[in-house]
Amino acid sequence: MARNTLSIPHPYPDGATDEYIARQARDCAAGKRAVWAISQREDGALVGAVGLHFALAHQKAEVGYWIGAPAWGKGAATEAVRPVLAFGFDELGLYRLEAYHYVENTASGRVMRKAGMRQEGLLRGVVFRDGVPGDNAICAILRTDPRP
Ligand SMILES: CC(C)(COP(=O)(O)OP(=O)(O)OC[C@H]1O[C@@H](n2cnc3c(N)ncnc32)[C@H](O)[C@@H]1OP(=O)(O)O)[C@@H](O)C(=O)NCCC(=O)NCCS
Repeated sequence: MARNTLSIPHPYPDGATDEYIARQARDCAAGKRAVWAISQREDGALVGAVGLHFALAHQKAEVGYWIGAPAWGKGAATEAVRPVLAFGFDELGLYRLEAYHYVENTASGRVMRKAGMRQEGLLRGVVFRDGVPGDNAICAILRTDPRP
């Protein structure tokens, strides 16, 4: 999981969860982000999170998400991302929603494409994780694009 993200440390230090949750709350209160918990329909258990990181000067936001490994492959990310895109366009009036994924993270690429995002480019060596450069695909959807 950490390998496919830029900000999740591995190994995961004690106390990092509290700091992660506090940071989401701080950023939401400051209007920098909107973040939703993703919970399991059957029992309400937390399985992940999805959020928008705003760049309001450009009427856009970056979409990010993670799902805990035990819940992978059950459609949670696919189900969670679509209403967040709709919220960004229809409630917030944003014009562009974009997202990046490591090229090898095909599951995330599928989530984006199934939500109607299109790949616009491939950015070589655009991020470093643990001293290793990574290639990212950039995907985006505009308010005027068709949505599934
Ligand atoms: C990427 C991630 C969010 C996908 O979440 P998920 O809830 O398992 O995804 P879904 O069940 O909605 O499946 C989405 C698609 O990915 C495919 N998929 C799921 N796991 C996969 C895997 N390990 N390898 C390849 N494809 C996979 C599914 O088959 C589905 O595609 P399909 O509809 O064509 O069959 C999850 O794996 C994750 O949190 N990974 C670590 C963090 C991360 O990568 N965050 C995103 C950063 S850009």
